[in-house]
Parts: sequence; structure tokens; C-alpha cells
Amino acid sequence: MEKLMIAGGYPLKGTVRISGAKNSAVALIPATILAESPVTIEGLPDISDVQILKDLLEEIGGTVEFTDNDMTVDPSSMISMPLPNGKVKKLRASYYLMGAMLGRFKKAVIGLPGGCHLGPRPIDQHIKGFEALGARVTNEQGAIYLRADELRGARIYLDVVSVGATINIMLAAVRAKGRTIIENAAKEPEIIDVATLLTNMGAKIKGAGTDVIRIDGVDNLHGCQHTIIPDRIEAGTYMIVGAAAGEGVLIDNVIPHHLESLIAKLREMGVQIETKDDQVFVGPAEKMKTVDIKTLVYPGFPTDLQQPLTSLLTRAEGTGMVTDTIYSARFKHIDELRRMNANIKVEGRSAIINGPVQLQGAKVKASDLRAGAALVIAGLMAEGVTEVTGLEHIDRGYSHLVEKLNGLGATIWREEMSKEELEQMKNA
Ligand code: EPU
Repeated sequence: MEKLMIAGGYPLKGTVRISGAKNSAVALIPATILAESPVTIEGLPDISDVQILKDLLEEIGGTVEFTDNDMTVDPSSMISMPLPNGKVKKLRASYYLMGAMLGRFKKAVIGLPGGCHLGPRPIDQHIKGFEALGARVTNEQGAIYLRADELRGARIYLDVVSVGATINIMLAAVRAKGRTIIENAAKEPEIIDVATLLTNMGAKIKGAGTDVIRIDGVDNLHGCQHTIIPDRIEAGTYMIVGAAAGEGVLIDNVIPHHLESLIAKLREMGVQIETKDDQVFVGPAEKMKTVDIKTLVYPGFPTDLQQPLTSLLTRAEGTGMVTDTIYSARFKHIDELRRMNANIKVEGRSAIINGPVQLQGAKVKASDLRAGAALVIAGLMAEGVTEVTGLEHIDRGYSHLVEKLNGLGATIWREEMSKEELEQMKNA
């Protein structure tokens, strides 16, 4: 098992290229199950979540070729193999196998999903949607059993605006009989990306990206070629890296419109930002003033950037407050930042950050994906060396993080953990 070593304080400069969006990729790959002939997705990120989904498609009989970020899936020989355990438990997005397999085979058995621990993450809205479409859904020993004689379009109002439920219901509904209407749907760019792939496969979907999505079911879907959108959260993370430790960082392959809330907040802090068609330049900031952040559904400030931004706020002048309205417990990075000398306290769903402080290198642990990003940013700003364990979380969502940061002039490397360290970790 490896850990990440970061020698802080090196000024970063240059260009970083953003990979395909993780949260699109993890839905686009299961969506291929719905077709009858090969689907190619171009520009996938090189992350472990993508690898696991590829393995899962192979487990159910798909033929998958994955080279140079492009994946071709031939779903013609797939069967509705039960997946109650094993790799499905390793990622949150395995829940998309429910919608896709139900849509194609009218039955599925999928283990309850894993993923980051950010407080309660129920899937009741997904299930409400599947049931409205005519599926019988039961939870037996940690696996969800879904079965329908036939799926019929329905009007579904989401009680909670949910990215996962919106996409999952879309996946189940594209091959249902008649019209499905999803009300109070999530509007994230990843939903539009999945709807674009499904439309290229022959689905009839209107309104993706608004809060009402209309789907007219079709009998069959066919293969196609699709290019994934760039990862707005990875791009936002590197924008924060640029603000934290940069002397001029150009983020390439990004849709600036997807990042308006972050751009506004960074500008409010005094960071110089210039946007071009598919690039964002983050200039150096001598002095930064703090801001308050409240996470909201898109186009509000994304919860996935709340943790990375908290690290940056330790450098800013004044008392800032970060409130997460989406997840109640997305604050596991705070104790680790405190070990690095940050002055932060957590009150309910808010973190209160007093700055500026000079962070100090320390041994810290990433407990989830974006906590990992937050600690890497802190390490880049810190005096001395920071050791980050829990690298498996970071590898789930950041493609070639070490190479990309070294390309900007950072001093960061992976190192094998010693036997003693592994033992300590086990006993912790
Ligand atoms: N919720 C319910 N019931 C449901 C579904 C969601 O109560 O049936 C609640 C959740 O507990 C949460 C809120 O609704 O409080 C929003 O959850 P949502 O369903 O939108 O989240 P998700 O689909 O599980 C995706 C991303 C997350 C990202 C959230 C919010 C994927 C695979 N994951 O999760 O990404 O934080 O949307 O934007 O797309 C990450 O990338 O680090 C990450 C955690």
C-alpha cells in the first residue's frame, strides 16, 4: 500500500489538462448495458472507479476494450447476472447498474453501494422511481432485488433533488412503455451528459438540465460514439490548487460555465481569474480575504469542492464559514487540517475557519475522495513534508494526480508504506 508525500511551498506554474468527468463516467459506463450493439465512450478518466465498472460489465458478460481513455462496450451478450457482493460494494455509483439492468432485462440483483462516508446516503428516491415504473423492489441481506413484468412510464416527483436518482430513473425509463416525467429533477451537467449518450443511442429525452425531464420510452437502443464532458470537480480542484500555491496556472479542457459558483467565490477572495472558451487561468494572489460558502445543488456551490476550498480558506484573512447543506458529515478532513496547524472548528453542518495561518507538514489520513484533495492542497501550501495515507480514496477520482501536480512544479511522490505503518493503520 502506498502513501503520498508532498514537500510543500514550491510555487506552481504551467498548464494542467483536465480529464473526463468521474461522475459522468460512472453513469455512462452502466448506461451502455441498455444498448444492443457496441457503444464507444471517449475521454474517460484513468481512475479506479472506471476500472471497477469495466470489470463489472465483464462479469455480466459484456466485452469491453479500454485503451487510451476510450472504452468500447459490446453489450450484446450481457445477461442479468446477480451482483449481490464483491466489486459493487466498492463504489457508490454501482447503483446505476440497478437502473440500467432493470431497463434492459427487467430484473437485477445489486449489492447496496459503497463509496465515501459523508453521513447518511439513502437511495429511497431511486427506489421510489423504480417502483413507480412498475418494479417490485426488495432489500434482502444487503442487496437490492428488482423485478418487473413490464416497465411503464410514470410521473415521478423527487422529494429530494438527487443526481443519482435522476440518472437512475432515466436509465430505467428509456426502454419503458410510454412517457415518464421526472419532476424536481437534478440539473447537474453530468445528467445532460448521460442524456446525450442515451439520445445518441436512440432514446427520446427532453429537458435534461432542467428540473422537469420527459422521457418517451423506445423498444431498443443501439450503439454509438460519445465524448465525455470534462470533470468540473477536478478542474475546480486545480483552480483551488492554483489559488493556493500558484504563480499562474492554466486549467485546460474545462467548461468554465460549469464552474461559475467557484469562479465567483475565488474572485470574491481576491484571486485573479480569466476564462476562455475551454480554459481558465488562475493568477497569483498576494493577499486573500475569506468568504462564506454554502453548498447547494447545481448551479449552486458544489459540495464536492467544499473540502478543497476549506484548505484554501486557511490562507485567507478573517473568519470564513463553510456550510454543507447536502451532506451532514462531510467534515472528516477538518481534524487532519488541524493537525497541520489550521484553526478550524466544526459546529453542526458548518466549519468555521480562522485565517491566515501557515500550515505545517504532518502525517494525515484521507478518509474520503475530496478530503484527500483537501489534504493535498494543504500539503502544497504547508511548510515541510506532508504524508497522506488513504490514497485509495484519491485514486478513485483523480486521474494521474501526482504526474499532473509535478507537471506544474510541485514536489509530490508516492511511497510504499512500511510494515510498521501498515500495522499502525490496522490498529488505529
Ligand atoms: N438523497 C436522499 N435520497 C436519495 C438520494 C439522495 O435522501 O434517494 C440525499 C442524499 O443523502 C444527499 C442529497 O440527497 O443528502 C444529494 O444526493 P445525490 O443523490 O444528489 O448524490 P449522489 O448521486 O449519491 C452524486 C455524486 C457525489 C456528489 C453528489 C452531489 C456520483 C457518483 N456522486 O452523489 O459525488 O457529492 O452527487 O452533487 O455522481 C464525489 O464526487 O466526491 C461525490 C461524492
